[in-house]
Amino acid sequence: MADRSGRASSESVDSEASNIGDEEVLKAAEDFYSSRPYYQQPLGHLEVPDGLPNLEAETCGGCHTEIYEEWSISTHRRAWKQDAQFMAELEKSRTGSTAEDSSKDDVGWMCVTCHTPVTNQLERVVVGLRDGNIGQPIYRKNPSYNPRLQEEAITCATCHVRNGKVYGPYGDTDAPHPTAKDPSLRDSSTCTGCHQAEAHWPSRSLACFFSTGEEWSQSQYAKNGETCQSCHMPTVNRKLAKGFDRPKRKTRRHWFGGSLIPKHPKYNEEIARLQKVYGSGAEITLIPAQEAQNVERASNGSLKTSSCPPDRSCRSYIVRITNEHAGHYLPTGDPERHLDVTATVRTEDGTVVTEASQRIASKYKWWPEIREQYDNRLPPKEHLDFEVHIPKGGDDYSIQISAHKYRMYMEAFEHHDLEGEYVRGRSFFNARWHIDSAGNLTLERKVTDKEKVMNDSHTGRPEGPDHR
Ligand code: HEC
Ligand code: HEC
Ligand code: HEC
Ligand code: HEC
Ligand code: HEC
Repeated sequence: MADRSGRASSESVDSEASNIGDEEVLKAAEDFYSSRPYYQQPLGHLEVPDGLPNLEAETCGGCHTEIYEEWSISTHRRAWKQDAQFMAELEKSRTGSTAEDSSKDDVGWMCVTCHTPVTNQLERVVVGLRDGNIGQPIYRKNPSYNPRLQEEAITCATCHVRNGKVYGPYGDTDAPHPTAKDPSLRDSSTCTGCHQAEAHWPSRSLACFFSTGEEWSQSQYAKNGETCQSCHMPTVNRKLAKGFDRPKRKTRRHWFGGSLIPKHPKYNEEIARLQKVYGSGAEITLIPAQEAQNVERASNGSLKTSSCPPDRSCRSYIVRITNEHAGHYLPTGDPERHLDVTATVRTEDGTVVTEASQRIASKYKWWPEIREQYDNRLPPKEHLDFEVHIPKGGDDYSIQISAHKYRMYMEAFEHHDLEGEYVRGRSFFNARWHIDSAGNLTLERKVTDKEKVMNDSHTGRPEGPDHR
């Protein structure tokens, strides 16, 4: 079995490993992990519940067919080998550490705790650090390793299996496996164990920060009792298992839809149909400047500013981007995520008169040390504005606004050589207004996630401006 960095695993497993028993290895790993911050702790070794042959999602899916199908197209399912960006970064994080060459750091052991969180999914476990150095893990071969389970990434067992039992939100069913109740499945804590982590190792230019949990808990949504599940796992009335005579009940979908940017071009179709179910977080509107209230001019992230042509006088319009639907910042999660919104003014024959575009992001410089450049992401219900100018005097114009969301910047996309292996982003909004000579706006066309499935996410380079 080759490990993820392509070396034979026997080389990377510490040589003392061979004469230690399985129980002792698991115990040593448990002792080590439990001394670490929570985001460095895997879920521990899980026992297979009675009545089931193994922990694999495919097994659960034999009875829970619909839930299995939903989960199968989720990003949770794709958080391991099917995520080419993750694989590229993991490789880089594990340049390899050996006793002979301690100059090479390996921090990859810290990445797997959320992407393949069950100890049974780890090929190697960590039992200690050389000199307490996080880049120098001491590995042992994991006796409970199940490669099929590893392949499933954030699998059913992650959220549902502990202590040889299957936990549900109510624990009240009659199932062919032991069941128990875990009320936390009905609140956000089920999600924030992974979606809230802030760790910094500035000396290594290494940082991991996701504040989705905190962003949510400070929002009105949390106060109103709307959880992560409320938006990401829509309710549905159905039978839980196929082939069992049980009544339907109110339960939740398992798509875990978010940005709906597919992890690979070939997943575009299966995920595009979810755009109608979930929609995007942002609403974008165009407002004549004199009618705009509470203008919040963006002070960072401007990619292009519109100006009035020399010798002309202009009318001004406000493009407003509002976080209308996300229960946390927009965007949230990975710091590379960003939105670009572009407004283009054209004459009736299509000549571009002026263009303006705005980026919404938390922008960092990663080298030589981590430094925040700006963070203009939108908290729930807040907005940012930018301006476009249109010449006065006799002519009609059109103004087109297009918006894209991205998982990563072009620099990283090219650095990791992801062309054809990954999708960097997609369009989620495109609208065109006609502006008559008196400056009146008429909406001519509008395409959003909820209204129509768009088809431009086949490549890593979505249509539209490329802001390198
Ligand atoms: C064991 C850790 C873990 C738990 C628990 C977890 N997630 Fe995730 N989640 C992840 C990881 C890792 C990713 C990113 C995977 C990738 O991009 O490869 C992710 C991605 C997502 C996305 C982004 C999808 C996208 O493609 O934009 C959403 C939405 C999401 N999770 C919602 C939830 C919700 C809701 C819960 C709770 C019911 C939850 N997650 C619980 C680890 C977890
Ligand atoms: C505390 C849990 C946790 C740890 C530890 C962790 N991740 Fe993640 N990772 C997540 C979550 C949650 C997401 C989803 C957030 C999102 O998609 O924006 C994610 C998403 C990602 C993504 C996809 C980003 C995107 O926009 O699609 C990559 C790549 C990634 N992680 C790499 C890593 C690497 C490399 C490490 C180790 C240095 C690591 N992760 C450690 C929780 C974690
Ligand atoms: C990221 C965490 C997560 C993953 C992964 C996950 N689930 Fe769930 N599951 C939940 C949550 C949260 C609920 C329901 C909460 C509610 O009803 O409020 C749930 C509900 C269920 C229920 C209904 C329980 C009831 O009493 O209504 C079943 C059955 C179920 N899941 C099976 C599965 C299967 C099978 C898989 C894998 C194919 C899976 N789940 C993957 C979090 C998860
Ligand atoms: C042989 C069929 C079968 C398999 C395999 C199976 N289940 Fe179930 N499961 C059921 C049935 C039947 C119920 C009860 C459904 C009902 O009463 O509506 C159930 C109930 C559940 C519940 C609700 C528990 C409660 O009472 O709150 C969860 C969660 C669940 N299963 C998850 C899983 C997971 C995760 C796996 C895989 C590790 C799995 N199941 C494997 C048939 C199965
Ligand atoms: C009020 C509804 C709502 C709530 C509550 C909510 N989300 Fe979201 N979430 C969204 C929407 C809408 C998006 C899509 C944003 C976009 O890409 O346009 C999203 C996107 C995401 C993403 C992908 C990153 C991104 O910016 O696209 C992750 C990860 C995520 N949510 C996790 C969570 C977690 C974890 C919680 C609970 C702590 C949560 N969400 C609560 C609506 C919600």
